[in-house]
Amino acid sequence: MSTLQPFPGAIFPQLRLRRMRRSAELRSMIRETRLDPTSFIYPLFAVEGEGIRQEIPAMPGQFHLSVDELVQEAASAFAEGVPAVLLFGIPATKDARGTSAADPEGPVLRAVRELKRALPRLVVVTDVCLCEYTDHGHCGLLDGQQVDNDATLPVLAETALAHARAGADMVAPSDMMDGRVQAIRARLDQEGFEQIPILAYAAKFASAFYGPFREAAQSAPQFGDRRSYQMDPANRREALREVQADLQEGADLVMVKPALAFLDVLREVRDEVTCPLAAYNVSGEYSMVKAAARMGWIDERAVTMEILTGIKRAGADLILTYHAREAARWLS
Ligand code: PBG
Repeated sequence: MSTLQPFPGAIFPQLRLRRMRRSAELRSMIRETRLDPTSFIYPLFAVEGEGIRQEIPAMPGQFHLSVDELVQEAASAFAEGVPAVLLFGIPATKDARGTSAADPEGPVLRAVRELKRALPRLVVVTDVCLCEYTDHGHCGLLDGQQVDNDATLPVLAETALAHARAGADMVAPSDMMDGRVQAIRARLDQEGFEQIPILAYAAKFASAFYGPFREAAQSAPQFGDRRSYQMDPANRREALREVQADLQEGADLVMVKPALAFLDVLREVRDEVTCPLAAYNVSGEYSMVKAAARMGWIDERAVTMEILTGIKRAGADLILTYHAREAARWLS
């Protein structure tokens, strides 16, 4: 029995947990988890062209943005307290090898350059993957119907290098090839980018919650699925091995993705590693909230805050969320 309790081993009626819930001030004093926009990373979709701000049907409130509009959006988010963006691109052309991923005139690389010019303090993170750039929609190069792990690594490394050359502050490989963190780290270091951190999508599960994103990024696989490289949602111990592997290869930060059906994994990773930990509150999680709110079935603001708080409480330092801008506004 602990003598540190006011009433050792107290139970009702001495113990009343409601005493500290009686006012907003008391509740705030004992709040264990605080949300703060400095932990948000805001994903954005860059497209070709100019003056384009086209809403993504499956993701209300999210847009395909030409580079000029994307800079505006990022500037508003930054002014509202969101320190970082994550860039995805929809290229003009796709081929079997995802060549356009490293095209210096492609939308992502132009966006990186323009963002760093206009908003030097904004943290620009780039998603490194081939699925938006391959005509087959898989995250790596194919050998027949299989995704060829080792042949994909140099292509990912060159893509990450192109992002770093354009001025990206951080690269985030999301392809789930084995060894990609090592390959990217080696290539970046070779070219003098040893200061650029790698945020590894370490425990990325093969999830149906990516559905709206694949519509947004036009990156659905043309045959088969991603289960030969993304993780089985049933596996918790394997997630720890993925995290350990990416850290050994040189990842600076690791991610669990998606967030909501994987909060136990997030907590487990938090308890096992000391590095910064991110969680991706993915497209399907966002769109479900938007859809239910539109139906008038839930209070979007309250539900979103509860979700983001839950992700933080589970152990995330950083949250990648399409709600970043709105949540930052709600928190101000
Ligand atoms: C690219 C990638 C995906 C997401 C982030 N990077 C899609 C996928 O793996 O199919 C999903 C993001 C989201 O759903 O919000 N590989």
